[in-house]
Amino acid sequence: MQQTRVSELNNNRIFLESQAARESNARSYPRRLPLAIKKAEGIQVTDMDGKVYYDCLAGAGTLALGHNHPVVVEAIKSTLDQKLPLHTLDITTPLKEAFVDELFASLPEQFARDARIHFCGPTGADAVEAAVKLAKTVTGRSGIFAFHGGYHGSTHAGMSLSGTLHQKGEIPGLMPDVHFLPYPYAYRCPFGVGGEQCQRLGIRYIRSILNDPESGVRPPAAMVLEIVQGEGGSIPAPAEWLREIRRITEQHGIVLIVDEVQTGFGRTGKLFAFEHAGILPDILVLSKAIGGSLPLSVLVYRKQFDCWRPGAHIGTFRGNQLAMAAGLASLRYINGRNIPEQAGLRGRQLMQRLLDLKAKVSEIGDVRGLGLMIGVEVVHGQGETDSLGQPLAHPELAASIQRKCFQRGLILELGGRHSSVIRFLPPLIVTASEIDAIAEIFSGAVREACGAAQEMNALA
Ligand SMILES: Cc1ncc(COP(=O)(O)O)c(C=O)c1O
Repeated sequence: MQQTRVSELNNNRIFLESQAARESNARSYPRRLPLAIKKAEGIQVTDMDGKVYYDCLAGAGTLALGHNHPVVVEAIKSTLDQKLPLHTLDITTPLKEAFVDELFASLPEQFARDARIHFCGPTGADAVEAAVKLAKTVTGRSGIFAFHGGYHGSTHAGMSLSGTLHQKGEIPGLMPDVHFLPYPYAYRCPFGVGGEQCQRLGIRYIRSILNDPESGVRPPAAMVLEIVQGEGGSIPAPAEWLREIRRITEQHGIVLIVDEVQTGFGRTGKLFAFEHAGILPDILVLSKAIGGSLPLSVLVYRKQFDCWRPGAHIGTFRGNQLAMAAGLASLRYINGRNIPEQAGLRGRQLMQRLLDLKAKVSEIGDVRGLGLMIGVEVVHGQGETDSLGQPLAHPELAASIQRKCFQRGLILELGGRHSSVIRFLPPLIVTASEIDAIAEIFSGAVREACGAAQEMNALA
């Protein structure tokens, strides 16, 4: 199909066929969300057939203020109108200054006072790469501690630090010396105990490998973690677990890298998710929402760590002025309108609706999250368990619920173990009535999908 012909046609199917014929086999979202987008505003997107959807994927959490928010559009227009440079490598500009001012003013004072910022280029994964290099430079150590279920990007180092075996399984020679630790995932507790015991045993295990002279694990340069595991299935770490992690990393001279690529900028009900636990990172990784819809990523880290050499982490696209303008406008809006608080409120509203549904539907095994980062874990409803005695994940049913939501005009993504967690990541500007509408669509889709699954079982 010729490009010119495709772009003239108002039809999803033609675009999807063309995409499938020309784009790489590694493409991902279009396989489960088969639409071509014509326009988008706020929480809504309209496809080429004119169908309107609630977008609860929102650029995988990038669109904090939704699609084409007026303050973002205005910031972009004004940058263009002023003939400001669009790209400057890492040469500074008044726009960059203003962006850094606003970001530093938004961070806890104790952290910002002594912080340095490094612009990366410009994905979350590149910033994670930079964080790891910095931690290795600071400590002279080579190892990294990461967590089961974590996700830190799709580059070699990002993937090495991630739990995603389905992605990394086929690739030899990923970054060596990464040691994985249990995350406090109480619903599928690796120790088989769940609840608070799960986090206590996890902490004990980490302390033990660091204190045992025969553990075989050398003290690492850094520990990298998400405060709420995103792709891992919207799993929040308890505040007390995080405080213990902070104590352990301090005691052992381990650089604590907090990856807020997905949680950053209000999503969890605080501007930065680490604020829930009252801890401070050594290196903070930010991307997605900080560019106000456009590509941008940065590290913010303690000044005392600023020992890497000039040019130690470079890359061409580190000077995206439009992203800084959009990010600055978003951040000002988020700070000025108490958006994190709103996200917390709307998150609790959605969570309650989902918990009500869970009480009636045995296939919903768990509902969890923080702010507007919520996951619904789908399991076999008859109490079936896996070889570890844990609820049996039901990826087919999760996919069927996702499909039925999509048919009803609700875009949701899957994640977590066996892709059996349905993830809600709506823009932070979602209203109370939109949450009700989303919950309504979701409930209908769950009932229909579960009904169909039960009929299939009865026939089998
Ligand atoms: C926590 C976290 N870190 C890093 C990344 C990688 O970001 P990017 O896809 O921009 O490379 C992601 C992406 O989803 C993420 O959720």
